[in-house]
Amino acid sequence: MRHAPLEAGALGRAVDAPAASARRTEIALDSGSPEATERIGARVGALLADGDVVALTGELGAGKTCLARGILRGLGVADVVQSPSFVVERRYAGRLAAHHLDLYRIEGARAIGELGIPDRFAESGVFVVEWADRAAGFLPDQRLEVAIEDLGGTERRVRIAGPRARLAPLAAVAG
Ligand SMILES: Nc1ncnc2c1ncn2[C@@H]1O[C@H](COP(=O)(O)OP(=O)(O)OP(=O)(O)O)[C@@H](O)[C@H]1O
Ligand SMILES: [Mg+2]
Repeated sequence: MRHAPLEAGALGRAVDAPAASARRTEIALDSGSPEATERIGARVGALLADGDVVALTGELGAGKTCLARGILRGLGVADVVQSPSFVVERRYAGRLAAHHLDLYRIEGARAIGELGIPDRFAESGVFVVEWADRAAGFLPDQRLEVAIEDLGGTERRVRIAGPRARLAPLAAVAG
């Protein structure tokens, strides 16, 4: 799959998460626009494999849905609509089945259990989970964690943590 190059200024740096095991790493990429955030998402989507769970965190309006849209595009989903906020989950068919969840309104272990989490993650396809912090403790260890920080205006910092081998293509971008 081909991607537009990340715009100048969207490049970040690769930093090793201090507490992470040697097999995990964290990459920070800066974005200056919704389009750049979506392109970062598309790069993440392109490297996903069956069974992956992407845990998205960040404040209201940080850009989680924007990034998720990019991830779905990177998975080859043609028409991605809006956030699944009101339905909790939307499913898409790309090169893999894709489940887009939004746990914003989900509170507590019981509600998480009613959604079938964590057993659901054994289903085929990939899961992209907004407000993943709501399901802390129920997510697989091998997840990719994507945290978006609003730096003001349209500036965002996207931190991507996960297995080092999996993130290698992104590390090359981050330099
Ligand atoms: N660099 C950027 N990346 C992403 N979004 C940006 C950026 N700059 C501005 N925005 C704006 O910030 C908003 C992000 O909205 P989005 O729905 O993606 O956030 P969210 O984290 O999913 O919010 P919520 O917690 O409500 O689900 C959009 O209005 C978007 O246009
Ligand atoms: Mg959202």
